[in-house]
Amino acid sequence: MENEKTYLQNLILNRRIVRNYIESEETYPDLSDVPKLTIKIPTAGFSRGIEIISVENKDSIQKLAIYANEKTYIEKGFGKWISNSKAIFLILINEAAYHERYKMMDKKNETNSKNWSVPYWYVDAGAAMMNCMLLIDETGLKSGFLGSHNMEVLKIKSFLKIPKNIEILGFVTAGVEDSTKNIKKEKINRKKIVHKELYEN
Ligand SMILES: Cc1cc2nc3c(=O)[nH]c(=O)nc-3n(C[C@H](O)[C@H](O)[C@H](O)COP(=O)(O)O)c2cc1C
Repeated sequence: MENEKTYLQNLILNRRIVRNYIESEETYPDLSDVPKLTIKIPTAGFSRGIEIISVENKDSIQKLAIYANEKTYIEKGFGKWISNSKAIFLILINEAAYHERYKMMDKKNETNSKNWSVPYWYVDAGAAMMNCMLLIDETGLKSGFLGSHNMEVLKIKSFLKIPKNIEILGFVTAGVEDSTKNIKKEKINRKKIVHKELYEN
């Protein structure tokens, strides 16, 4: 059929950030392939500066919920999210890997990586984040994302033994959606962002 969507189009169209998970004892899909497929991304210069930690241990997830200040969200009336996750994937950024790579012989005549107009380590981290969310949604679980600006990053690094120089982009979460808690969001910022041929408002 002419307008039939492909599998990938449907996966992308149906994905949204889910922030309410139920506590479910049911066995959940195997997520063991998610980490390595998440970081199957192109990285600038093949720097390979994006890493990932998966956390499925229940006690560790409770600890991460504390460090993500979940309590303050629950006090505001939001449902459980991080603490009811089945798995949390932390996307990690090793900026130094990019600078190391771009100091090498074949790259040394290029713009210094410290002066890039767009820091490619964040570009690559975003690519990994998207892979991760789509891989989770493909299993039937629902994905969410909590940025590290809302977390106690130093405590998380110490807890998971993440080196100090590695940045945490955030948590990609996987869980079973609590659809009773679905909050209707205001439609904000619906300006034109897809342009064709010329940039037009
Ligand atoms: C870089 C980045 C950081 C985000 N940080 C948060 C966050 O800290 N907490 C949160 O609830 N959502 C966060 N989000 C989710 C956005 O708010 C989300 O993309 C937006 O609500 C649209 O969601 P949709 O995918 O459901 O359309 C973040 C998204 C991105 C891309």
